[in-house]
Amino acid sequence: MEFTIKTGSPEKLKRACIVIGAYTDARLTPSAEAVDQASGGALGALLKRGDLDDKAGATLALPLLPGVDAERVLVVSLGKPDELNDKAYRDALTAAGKALAGLRGKEASVCLAEIEVPDRDLAWRLRTAARVIAAAAYRFDAPGKADDSPKRGIHKVQFLIPGKSSKALTAAVAQGLATAEGMALARDLGNLPPNVCSPSYLADTAKALGKEHKLKVTVLDKAQMSKLGMGALLAVAQGAEQPPKFIVMEHHGGKAGDAPVVLVGKGITFDTGGISLKPAAEMDEMKYDMCGAASVFGTLKAAALLDLPINVVGIVPSTENMPGGNATRPGDVVTSMSGQTIEILNTDAEGRLILCDALTYAERFKPACVIDIATLTGACVVALGKIPSGLLSTDDALARELTDIGQCSGDRVWQLPLWDDYQELLKSNFADMANIGGRYGGTITAAAFLARFTKAYTWAHLDIAGTAWISGEAKGATGRPVPLLTEFLIARAGLN
Ligand code: BES
Ligand code: MN
Ligand code: ZN
Repeated sequence: MEFTIKTGSPEKLKRACIVIGAYTDARLTPSAEAVDQASGGALGALLKRGDLDDKAGATLALPLLPGVDAERVLVVSLGKPDELNDKAYRDALTAAGKALAGLRGKEASVCLAEIEVPDRDLAWRLRTAARVIAAAAYRFDAPGKADDSPKRGIHKVQFLIPGKSSKALTAAVAQGLATAEGMALARDLGNLPPNVCSPSYLADTAKALGKEHKLKVTVLDKAQMSKLGMGALLAVAQGAEQPPKFIVMEHHGGKAGDAPVVLVGKGITFDTGGISLKPAAEMDEMKYDMCGAASVFGTLKAAALLDLPINVVGIVPSTENMPGGNATRPGDVVTSMSGQTIEILNTDAEGRLILCDALTYAERFKPACVIDIATLTGACVVALGKIPSGLLSTDDALARELTDIGQCSGDRVWQLPLWDDYQELLKSNFADMANIGGRYGGTITAAAFLARFTKAYTWAHLDIAGTAWISGEAKGATGRPVPLLTEFLIARAGLN
């Protein structure tokens, strides 16, 4: 997808499509007004007749409108003017993006950024428009699946804005596009079948990404992990035939001495539960248990595309979680890289076991902060549903920063408490801690476990079990929380 910004009015543009917004009360936006006048009032008349549905995101395609040079005008409903908010704006963009992705033709002009969204400036509207429209065009090309969908879709989008463009506005569009490209990588990795997307595949992807975007990439093998004492990670890996990989990607955009933001992503390429085997229903979805890792890949890609003037490190501990003759047993006690011992009471609580060693490894980077991202607990989906990601942190300022950026990006998070009181639930008779905390507050006890490995730095944890993918008919990875993380880095780089 290619985006440009242009000043002006749409009616005389020879395009495959122009996209304009309309309110339910038939009040016209500035570009709708221009199209209405050019068409001798045809647009206004159609809208008055009620041809466009009320809900924000409903669309109406008007081909060959008299007086208008574009092949079609796509009218997108904005809902009621006094209810227009971030969500209505994004819904309108998603609908526009989906429609454009299915159109024949090359070029479209989109006039949605002119719409006044409460408390949002033009840069926000353009950044959001670029991201949402590009992300709506995402398609997963399944390897080996006969592709019967026609090859079409608009590739060039021009945003028409009322005033002059500027460097800041161009940058905003570039940020939106880079975010969508990072999301697409995360979605591709998530959607790949688990017999393809193995730890080795992730390691190879990291190396390729490194070559393409000048990232420093280091991949540790099992022997090197063993030497570092990553006993918790290796306990998960020991049941699998696929070799585990420990992947480190570094974006050096800042000064050499600048403390990096470190992102740690759970990379379980398939989670059977191990000996604590999961039930069969929907187990295929546990191929998505590497979506935390995928979001780290995607965010590093976006950071590199934007050449963000900040240092970022991505760490991905990756293995399968399989049952087998050599698999870890419930009751096994292992020693983590930190030296703390862990009684593994449930082998299905494996995410925290691979993350804890990665979190200890992260200390060597003397991070400005560490954010880990993981499809960690089913309990998080029970608690919060599939709208926000769970946020838990030992640092209030970092939690607030992420919450605010979640609101602004639309990739929202909701904080759960992480008080010391929860630590008791992890007591073990046979080790420093158990890897599960009992029936209640599963998302919190998982984070409380991780917190024991993050004392050396400022840390937040994102539980994306409910947000990383969609189930059912539209099954697929969402690319979240790449928007949140990318905007976090943009803000940390001082660009927003
Ligand atoms: N990957 C799962 C969490 C998960 C389950 C995410 C379903 C999305 C949907 C994780 O490894 C896991 O199995 N967690 C257990 C923890 C429990 C054993 C304490 C869970 O949530 O049941
Ligand atoms: Mn599990
Ligand atoms: Zn898991």
